[in-house]
Amino acid sequence: MAKKHKIAVVGGDGTGPEVVREGLKVLEAVAGKYGVDYETVEYDFGGDRYLRTGEALPDSAVGELKGFDAIYLGAIGHPDVKPGILEQGILLRLRFELDQYINLRPVVLYDKKYCPLGLREEQNVNFTVVRENTEGLYCGAGGFLRKGTKDEVAIQESINSYKGVERCIRYAFECAKKLNRQKKVTLCGKTNVLTYAFSLWQRVFDQVAKEYPEVKTDYAHVDATCMWMVKNPEWFDVIVTDNMFGDIITDLGAMIQGGMGIAAGGNINPQGVSMFEPIGGSAPKYTGQEKINPLAAISALAMLLNQIGEVEAAQAVDNSVIKVVREKLNSLGAGRMGYSTSEVGDLVVKGIINN
Ligand code: IPM
Ligand code: MN
Repeated sequence: MAKKHKIAVVGGDGTGPEVVREGLKVLEAVAGKYGVDYETVEYDFGGDRYLRTGEALPDSAVGELKGFDAIYLGAIGHPDVKPGILEQGILLRLRFELDQYINLRPVVLYDKKYCPLGLREEQNVNFTVVRENTEGLYCGAGGFLRKGTKDEVAIQESINSYKGVERCIRYAFECAKKLNRQKKVTLCGKTNVLTYAFSLWQRVFDQVAKEYPEVKTDYAHVDATCMWMVKNPEWFDVIVTDNMFGDIITDLGAMIQGGMGIAAGGNINPQGVSMFEPIGGSAPKYTGQEKINPLAAISALAMLLNQIGEVEAAQAVDNSVIKVVREKLNSLGAGRMGYSTSEVGDLVVKGIINN
């Protein structure tokens, strides 16, 4: 008998629960059709719980989540909670403590009419960002001197360990090999200014590259990467970069693939529990309005299925999403799709069942 997958569901804040609801609707449909056996357990982590209890994550959470095969996350971020508390207390804490050391963000254009760059063929925007997800500027290393005075100094340090950099770069090379597109990895850094951190990245990159003679290599500074992503996105296949640069360039990536409504990502621990999410955030102003595009969350579900080995079901979800994007929607933006949030979910379900 097929394995029963245990999936933890965290709807989270704002529109998170709405888009996750559509994802779960799609999961039910695809599981029925392809014989995927699963169970879900819902967790109420997020801003409302924090405001009620004063704790972002209960101490038991990380241990419990380790018992799942995957985590499906909506969004974290609440307008009544000071910026940083929920992000650090939930999202970053889970990424760190579950050692999800890769943030995998595909940038794929499903229909050229949604690309703001104009006149791009779909195949011109088809790359994957492998973002380091547990180190860099995100570690919270640093502090204040003379805080609150005019002599104040704030220090925020970027942590780059050999182990952290090596496993991330190795994942990127494996990714390029497996995806079998251009078979090329571009290191995105800033070797001309961040001469310590990216010296390590460059040295490890060159060393790992030797083990993959079939994979081509390239380098671009992060500022130039932004330029090329707009001017010649077809140059990229797999981009590997640190946490902060990866955060920034994947928002740009989301835009050239049609917007936050379609951009999905995975926080991956290849040896442990991975967590999948739409990368757009909680979009509080659209909460409960049936306006938010659920396709990013549904694509994140496809990534989740892939990661737990349900490749056929994942492909079916992706195919249905692509068809809905190409044949049904007016726009990928919230409130402009021509359909409500749940109608878009229904369209994806229909595409899976009728296929
Ligand atoms: C993302 C988000 C997070 C990040 C925030 C919410 C902490 O922007 O997943 O890209 O910076 O990683
Ligand atoms: Mn971000």
